[in-house]
Amino acid sequence: MRGFWLGVIATLVVMPFVGWLYLRLGYANLRADAGPSWFESTLAVTALEASAARHALKQDNPIQPTEANLMDGARLYRDKCADCHGRPDNPDSDYGRSFYPRAPQFMKALPHMTKDEEFFIIKHGVRWTAMPAWGNIMADSEIGQVVTFLSDVGNLPLPIQQELHRPEGKQ
Ligand code: HEC
Repeated sequence: MRGFWLGVIATLVVMPFVGWLYLRLGYANLRADAGPSWFESTLAVTALEASAARHALKQDNPIQPTEANLMDGARLYRDKCADCHGRPDNPDSDYGRSFYPRAPQFMKALPHMTKDEEFFIIKHGVRWTAMPAWGNIMADSEIGQVVTFLSDVGNLPLPIQQELHRPEGKQ
């Protein structure tokens, strides 16, 4: 029995030390342009979805898809999100693909989550990634406009599609 406990203690001491040596000797590959492993991406996606599902407030986004709201949402998206998440004339942003983890490209596939979860992630950002906490920069009503815009992105009236092609900050 004594041998067993000595083995447990040795493992508890040795394992973190080997981990520390691995990092200290520079074996960890910290390049942003290396592809994430299957394990890493599955774990991160599962954790993000579960965290958003647990923490997002249940609220009905009061921002209706009126033309005015979609237009404001499109301008906000163009100016604040499109560089990383793509826009119709650049649906696969090189910039967004250069982060680790990569920024999802919303012109190709929309997030698989409820609007409440989307609102939560946009407002609070994602730790250890390039996704900022927009709640420090945008009002809740503006975040709601972007969420409404994203829900309708495949079905936008022409003037709003054109707005996405205008240079940033132009109205
Ligand atoms: C500087 C780059 C950058 C900007 C700007 C940015 N994002 Fe992100 N965003 C990311 C990255 C990287 C991720 C992936 C995080 C991850 O894998 O957990 C992400 C994730 C997300 C997600 C979760 C998607 C999913 O499928 O998991 C949403 C929603 C989102 N962003 C919306 C926005 C909105 C809306 C804006 C603008 C208000 C914005 N982002 C601006 C980099 C950015």
